[in-house]
Amino acid sequence: MSIDKDYFEKFIKTTEKAAIGAFPYIGKGDKIAADQGSVDMMREELNKIEMHGQVVIGEGEMDEAPMLYIGEKVGKKNGQYLDIALDPLEGTNFVAKNLPNAFSMLAVCEKGNLFSAPDTYMEKIAVGPNLPKNLLDLDYSVEKNIRLLSDAKNKDIKKLTACVLKRSRHDKIVQSLKRLNVNIKFISDGDVSGAISVADPKTNVDIYLGIGGGPEGVLAAAALSCLGGQIQTRLVLEEDQKKRANKLGVQDVKKKYNIDDMIKGDVMFFATAITNGEIVDGVKDLGKKYEVSTFALHKELNIFKKIKNYHLK
Ligand code: FBP
Repeated sequence: MSIDKDYFEKFIKTTEKAAIGAFPYIGKGDKIAADQGSVDMMREELNKIEMHGQVVIGEGEMDEAPMLYIGEKVGKKNGQYLDIALDPLEGTNFVAKNLPNAFSMLAVCEKGNLFSAPDTYMEKIAVGPNLPKNLLDLDYSVEKNIRLLSDAKNKDIKKLTACVLKRSRHDKIVQSLKRLNVNIKFISDGDVSGAISVADPKTNVDIYLGIGGGPEGVLAAAALSCLGGQIQTRLVLEEDQKKRANKLGVQDVKKKYNIDDMIKGDVMFFATAITNGEIVDGVKDLGKKYEVSTFALHKELNIFKKIKNYHLK
């Protein structure tokens, strides 16, 4: 079975509305209000959809409601049973500071097919399509992974580009990349886009690596699953977070997850840009209406679309 194709347009509308929800907060320096603006709109839209939906990757856990929390039921309680991973505002700082690459994002799988990860950090390593399956491994050194990638791509190491989130926790990775003469593309936030960029030839990024948010890792896995890329992840859990992970069904807290462990079967992925993105433009206020642009994927039907829509104010 796959996800009914009629859901495609409905979820596009969902991320579009969530992006519009954050729009008034662009450049206003208030990332919490911006996040809330998109959460409220996303929830409203999700609850209009004929589905038995459940949030499995959300904005925090139950006690942190009114965000869209893990376990929250959404939809009109008829239609298909779907698991949803969402990030109504990926890149809260980007909106607060009016910087590019803020998105409203959502991914959907059939019930039981989407990894339910706690809202913690996660190690990630991602590469694009047309490479041997499970080529790289989080337990290999940076050097070994880079050499494997260089051989598999038949591309000189010094011509490879790695995308890395600029954080001091990545200093060792960065030192290793520099020693190898790999080009580094630093990002200040937004590692879903960073990880997905490995599958976009225009970006010239060959590998994404480092630690970022767990929910963002699963969203990246959803997109990469549609795009034929690969990602391996491992949760980074403090002692108190281990119990939370257990509750969500994670028994082995040190497990490495390959893309097929996180995303099973069919999947749809949607990202509507709030501020201008590399792939699509941000929300535009045209006076009486908003123009919104979305990057939308459906694995089963091999759909990869950039869609522009208008919403009256
Ligand atoms: P928010 O939109 O929730 O602020 O997340 C932005 C982000 O950069 C993610 O893309 C990334 O996974 C995470 O934050 C990294 O976390 P930290 O800023 O704590 O290093």
